[in-house]
Amino acid sequence: MNKFFITTPIYYINDVPHIGHTCTTIAADVIARLHRQKNDDVFFLTGTDEHGQKVAESAAKANLTPKAFCDSIAPRFEEAWKNLNISNDFFIRTTDSRHEKVVQDFLQKIYDKGDVYKAKYEGWYCIGCEKFLTESELVDGHCGLHPPEQTIWKSEENWFFKLSKYIPQIIKLIENNETNYIFPEGKRLEILSKLKNEEIRDLSISRENVSWGIPTPWDPKQTVYVWFDALINYYSATQFIEGKKDFWPADVHLLAKDILWFHTVIWQGMLLSAELPLPKKTFIHSFYLIDGQKMSKSLGNVISPGQLVDTFGVDGARYLIARSFPAENDSDVGIARFKEKYNADLANNFGNLVSRVSKLAEGLDFSANKTIKVENPSYEEKIDNFKFDEAINDIYSLYIDSANAKLNQETPWKLEKDDPKRIEILSSISKNIVTAAILLRPIMPEACLKIEEIFCGIVKATEKPLFPRIA
Ligand code: MSP
Repeated sequence: MNKFFITTPIYYINDVPHIGHTCTTIAADVIARLHRQKNDDVFFLTGTDEHGQKVAESAAKANLTPKAFCDSIAPRFEEAWKNLNISNDFFIRTTDSRHEKVVQDFLQKIYDKGDVYKAKYEGWYCIGCEKFLTESELVDGHCGLHPPEQTIWKSEENWFFKLSKYIPQIIKLIENNETNYIFPEGKRLEILSKLKNEEIRDLSISRENVSWGIPTPWDPKQTVYVWFDALINYYSATQFIEGKKDFWPADVHLLAKDILWFHTVIWQGMLLSAELPLPKKTFIHSFYLIDGQKMSKSLGNVISPGQLVDTFGVDGARYLIARSFPAENDSDVGIARFKEKYNADLANNFGNLVSRVSKLAEGLDFSANKTIKVENPSYEEKIDNFKFDEAINDIYSLYIDSANAKLNQETPWKLEKDDPKRIEILSSISKNIVTAAILLRPIMPEACLKIEEIFCGIVKATEKPLFPRIA
């Protein structure tokens, strides 16, 4: 059995789940399910990032201790993923003491190796990003991504990780495409150019005045920088969960462009220092825009996973997210556009085909369809490369559109019920439907299973439409 380990970022616990988190999580789920379908031994990891100044401040605002605050939000992520039928094998929380232990061991290892030193650090720090800002990241004196008051001047003695020591090695790896670890190509080139053209400084990895964090093993007055702690989750899960040790290195880290640097440079440097194998592939996707605008609380355009499920059903929501997945470029989405797509693709097309054919074929025995085996390597490759939209288009043009065309051209309803020609037409259409359902299973697990049940035995007409039209 091939091992296959896929991760999502662990989401900041100071926010509740939104469509951005949902998009990464569903994409990872689709890949995980595809690999399970291929009989791989899959480990799919997601979770929450719970330490740091930002979380401590949110907890204080909510009048809770940081831990109580985290305990109140983490279930909202777990619940959101359960409601979307996300098949993660584990949900990691960085406040799990088993994770904290791995982080401390990791740190001790790179400290003993001589890759950590103490120095004074001063600079503009963005609490929103949880990082020191470089000159180029300052817009009018503050972080361009977060409100001005989140940029503060920090001056303190910190422990530093010798990231600069590993930069030449990282450049070589990326340049030679040795591990070929950054996808898509545009992002590989972007990182390479940054590494070659900018001075990469060592990384401050501890905090003197942030108590909400993991104590630095050799200097417990300082806590571990939240990003250092968070990145290690990918590795720690394989170490403390029973039977998962062999899953490191990860096959795929999935994340968006906002955290590209942390994953393709800092994480690689940390792993090189700790002498651990590097992840095989890091896929960086782009962003969802909501009706042309950045999603933000102040604009009031945030879409929650709950809203998607309530409007489109679980599989409808999963389909729409996969269909609009921002693999290479930002993708403009919105409820109105989702409704159009849902009605066009699912209610009026695939769903309608299923109900029409199940009605016409009622009572026929299609048990032979149970043996349908689907091999479509080009489809799998597209899914594996996050080209969900293209992959779905292929399914429509190869199987669903042709089934609709055959149905409308051959008009089986005009033939007598027991006419062998009618049975032959419907049986052939049912094969297309079953094939499409098998291939779409990772995207719409429940609906596809129902469709397979209908057309792989004695056919019963569907009682309710699988994808009811939405007004
Ligand atoms: N806690 C860190 C990650 C640590 S991983 C070791 C963090 N958390 S986050 O909650 O801000 O999540 C960022 C991720 O959420 C992005 O990389 C992306 O996967 C997802 N998205 C957040 N907003 C998004 C969009 N508007 N569109 C698509 N995905 C987005 O960063």
